Amino acid sequence: MMRTHRCGELRAENVGETVTLTGWVNRRREHGEHLAFVDIRDHTGITQCVVDNEVDVRSEYVIKVTGVVTARIEGTVNDDLPTGAIELQDCAVEILSIAEPPPFPMDERADQVDELVRLRHRYVDLRRERMQRNMRVRSTINAAIRSAMIGQEFVEVETPMLMPSTPEGAREFLVPSRQKPGNFYALPQSPQLYKQLLMVGGLDRYFQIARCLRDEDLRADRQYEFMQLDMEMSFCDVDDVLSAVEVGVLDAAEAVTGTRPDAVERMTWHDAMERFGIDKPDLRFGMELIELTPIFADTGFKAFSTAESIKAIKVDQGADEYGRNKLDGLTDEAKSFGAKGMVWLKVRDAEGGGLEFESPVAKFLNETETAAIIETTAAVAGDLVLVIADEWMTTCEVLGELRNRIGRPPVWEGPYKYLWVTDFPLFVGVDAATGTPKPGHHAFCQPHPDDLDKLESDPMSVRAQAYDLVLNGWELGSGSIRIHDPQLQKRVFELLGIDDEEASKRFGFFLEPFKYGAPPHGGFAYGIDRLTAILAGEENIREIIAFPKPQSGLDPMTNAPTEVDATVLEEVGIRVLPPSV
Ligand code: AMO
Repeated sequence: MMRTHRCGELRAENVGETVTLTGWVNRRREHGEHLAFVDIRDHTGITQCVVDNEVDVRSEYVIKVTGVVTARIEGTVNDDLPTGAIELQDCAVEILSIAEPPPFPMDERADQVDELVRLRHRYVDLRRERMQRNMRVRSTINAAIRSAMIGQEFVEVETPMLMPSTPEGAREFLVPSRQKPGNFYALPQSPQLYKQLLMVGGLDRYFQIARCLRDEDLRADRQYEFMQLDMEMSFCDVDDVLSAVEVGVLDAAEAVTGTRPDAVERMTWHDAMERFGIDKPDLRFGMELIELTPIFADTGFKAFSTAESIKAIKVDQGADEYGRNKLDGLTDEAKSFGAKGMVWLKVRDAEGGGLEFESPVAKFLNETETAAIIETTAAVAGDLVLVIADEWMTTCEVLGELRNRIGRPPVWEGPYKYLWVTDFPLFVGVDAATGTPKPGHHAFCQPHPDDLDKLESDPMSVRAQAYDLVLNGWELGSGSIRIHDPQLQKRVFELLGIDDEEASKRFGFFLEPFKYGAPPHGGFAYGIDRLTAILAGEENIREIIAFPKPQSGLDPMTNAPTEVDATVLEEVGIRVLPPSV
């Protein structure tokens, strides 16, 4: 090895040893007439070296320093630095690479630099402590997950990156074929179809740390390319899948934080909507939805009299914090989430004793209703109550959004609250164009056995054996028990408006194998990027990906996507249209 130690390793015990360090020049300071302090840095830390000031090294030069570990004299010990008790003296410095000045400072000041500049020079950005830590957290998580899956007898199998186009939800990335010009492979949105075929193939328990690609708008929790822990198992029920997944997730969390989270709580989708107004509740704070519908059974207040569902959230001592502008802002947000309006009620001490509402609608609520709201919400003077009256789903969803807007801490802030949400609906909403129900997760989810008889008569009330894993309000993953019976699959396709011919055209290669003996099976996939971001204390998955795409999707470092030569396009049978204006 070129080095005897790493730059963060040396301590007082090493005094007297002659050592060799390699790394980057973090900082150089002149010291008197003849000497300079050069801090050498690698991923483990920094060591101060005392060198002859004729040695021409500058920031980010790559050097090798051989010197004697010496105790710093009293008064110069740096307690903030793990190596702060020592320095290297009598140094021989060898320059391994010279460097231009870095495009941004190598410390936390770089966090304020335009992200595009960081991504343009990601190879420099990656040298920083924050990025080094994040990359290593990611590696720790991958290792923990892999070993948890292997420990449970899951077999690691790689599935193809080039597959047929099979609309699975998101837009696909296409790859033109040279052998069959005018035809395309699609890059996998997930290994979903292949992993189910692995079950037909008798693999029994499969996992993969799988790269998935989706052409979606990029956000804090979304990239074009991302990694899933993807798994599938045979002869299992919902509990088996959840426990197998949980082992990996909890092992990963423990490996990073040093603490094993408690067993993951479970909640049905219906309860999650009722209590938190969202299918990925953030359990780190309360502000649960409060049911008010029965109070208004005979109300004279028009806005409430016809509503299917009336619920509220209570902002403790929010009455003064939320002035007119803020309340107008919340009302606009409520409308943008689909509400017709939002009623706000500030709870105040009444002159003659008791409590009353300060609100534009206070006069429309009679005494009994006012008292009942106060009792049901357990409101005290100074609280703010926000009420939505609408269809059940809208009421829940709007309050769920408002609750998050008002109360939700940053995603990475502790404590970590993991949650299984189970029993998702098999269908959500209706396709506007065709009038057929839309699948909640995907078309291959097994309906709940207790609801099978309602499949045709009341499809929207049918639950699926589908579940999500949620962490601090982010969806970490999804999965389901799959349909393995071709007859049941046909019934679901019929409801979705997919006839035999279309099914065989779109999913033929996938459905045919089920005729050859498919075991009952189910599985799950969770986003490793999302889990890593939260455990690394980051709010954006770009911070835990070595080479992510910025929000525009255009890579400032490689300039991808780029044009290609006309001859290359010719070979794959593509002619580019002029850009549309
Ligand atoms: P789903 O589509 O819910 O399920 O994806 C599973 C998890 O993958 C992560 N994820 C993403 N992460 C970063 N960027 C993206 N663009 C992105 N899209 C998804 C999320 C998500 O929860 N085949 C099914 C799983 C199954 O049924 O087994 C699937 O892919 O964390």
